[in-house]
Amino acid sequence: MDVRLAVTGFGNVGQGLATLLQQHSEEYVDRYGVRLLLTGVADSGGGAVDPAGLEPADLLQAKQAHGTVAAAARGRPGLRGEDFLSAASGHVFVEAASTNFIDAEPGWSYIRSALQRDMDVVLASKGALALHWRDLMTMAAERGRIVFYSATVGAPLPSLQVADRALLGAEILAFEGILNGTTHQILTAMAQGATYEEGVRQAQEIGIAETDPTLDVDGWDAAAKVAIVANAVFGANLRLDDVARQGIRGVTAADLEHARSRGQRIKLIGRAQRRDRTVTASVAPEPRDSSDALGRLRGDDMGIVFLVEPLGRMAITIESGGHGGGISTAMTVLRDVLNLARDRAWSTPSPG
Ligand code: HSE
Repeated sequence: MDVRLAVTGFGNVGQGLATLLQQHSEEYVDRYGVRLLLTGVADSGGGAVDPAGLEPADLLQAKQAHGTVAAAARGRPGLRGEDFLSAASGHVFVEAASTNFIDAEPGWSYIRSALQRDMDVVLASKGALALHWRDLMTMAAERGRIVFYSATVGAPLPSLQVADRALLGAEILAFEGILNGTTHQILTAMAQGATYEEGVRQAQEIGIAETDPTLDVDGWDAAAKVAIVANAVFGANLRLDDVARQGIRGVTAADLEHARSRGQRIKLIGRAQRRDRTVTASVAPEPRDSSDALGRLRGDDMGIVFLVEPLGRMAITIESGGHGGGISTAMTVLRDVLNLARDRAWSTPSPG
């Protein structure tokens, strides 16, 4: 089965996806019976399209040498929007551009166009989910399309899959988690004596900080993830602004030392709970016992704990953020695409 992918955004995640396809395409054919073809890739400089499948190596080389995929063999400077989607003629639209929490554009327009073209959607960026959840899911349902977005919440941390599949039939009452790797890295570094600025630099070196790290340190990224998980598991319709939000700028070395003297560590915790029909959600720094499931995590580890009736507390954690921002997020996008392929039967070629 051929699955044709149209991708917007060719930063860490888009390039990670191209690298995975370059190295493992044949393996996916053997293992899953799925041939993944990049039929279109767009970045801020334009696009490259080939309905027969672009060469990942050529795209990566063009990006490295010229800063845009528009310089690739099948590149077209300035190609974007409807023209790009039409030329790429993919089965799946993958949005991997950087997140925008003001109007979620241009991703939100791309997503709507892709759904109108009867494409399924895999999202690595959070903007549209955190600002337009109900509209997006309604439109997808009306068009009979699948929207997967597991890369938006802690990337390889399988939080949404556990909630959606493994806990089917049980009732999730609440969840709490360390869902932002950057702030976790900063707090861990500061607790070990580094400055706040050194912590930010470490997160940037690992490749997990947002292009604008304000989105991390002021809690926007964590709040968006809380809204997304709450909407998915509670059937809520939270927007980013519905999540009470406090970032880590106010956390001092003295606070961290005080916590340490009590056997605790300060973590930026995102949580949501449902009582009757009301869902409340928040993000704030808080001291945790260093022995508890979240308190024991360090650096850019991430974790989520579900409170499940009648099973109790279920913790899912991942160490070192799954090793590397771009590739681990790309692997999660890939996981969504393969799951999509399993849920659908495509044939080749399709008119797109
Ligand atoms: N900036 C995010 C983090 C990565 O630090 O966890 C993308 O979600």
